[in-house]
Amino acid sequence: MSYFNTTITETITYYTGLSPTAFFTITLLSILVYRTVTSMFVSPQDFNKPPVVSARFGSSRFNDVTEPPKKPVQVGEISEKELRLYNGSDENKPILISVKGNIYDVSQGKNFYGPGGSYAMFAGKECSRALALLSFKPQDINGNLEGLDESELAILEDWEYKFIDKYPKVGQLVPEPRTQQIEHSQEDNSNMKPE
Ligand code: HEM
Repeated sequence: MSYFNTTITETITYYTGLSPTAFFTITLLSILVYRTVTSMFVSPQDFNKPPVVSARFGSSRFNDVTEPPKKPVQVGEISEKELRLYNGSDENKPILISVKGNIYDVSQGKNFYGPGGSYAMFAGKECSRALALLSFKPQDINGNLEGLDESELAILEDWEYKFIDKYPKVGQLVPEPRTQQIEHSQEDNSNMKPE
């Protein structure tokens, strides 16, 4: 084995005139430079593919591909109860929020509204009142605008513009289905006015 090592070191020195340490250092540096430079170019067949982001600190450097944003799906007219299904707990569903009865797909703001996000309490909810009052109280997270003054309504309008600007509108909130309303009102024992 030592004969083998000696032969290699002698051969390196004979042919390159370098000490084995210098030879291996230069080889390693060359490989590093080669890999850095080639990673700056895209091969012709990969030219139109979406970019691959290498996650330096991730478990795999090569499997992390940026997820293309999902096309917003129109949900049409849905009730508050149905809206609650879109609160970010199901990864296969978009995250939706309703402002003044208009439903927006806020999935791109997952950091805000997804599980653990600062504004997760608004996900899957009609949150006009909370936005107008700048409140996080659960009892304010609804669409009841009663008793709001002009300045609060103006704040709500600002929020509405922000949502219109930033997120696609994907539906409209409708009252709960009539059968449920009847069930509720019977439970409440309230008087039903004839139409
Ligand atoms: C201490 C007070 C607050 C601070 C420091 C704060 C800070 C922030 C910051 C830095 C952002 C990110 C802005 C951006 O990148 O576009 C944000 C977003 C947001 N804030 Fe606040 N916030 C506060 C209070 C509130 C309150 C009271 C509400 C409503 C009840 C609220 C609702 C929101 C919403 C809905 C978003 C996300 C908007 C979007 O989807 O782009 N915030 N906030």
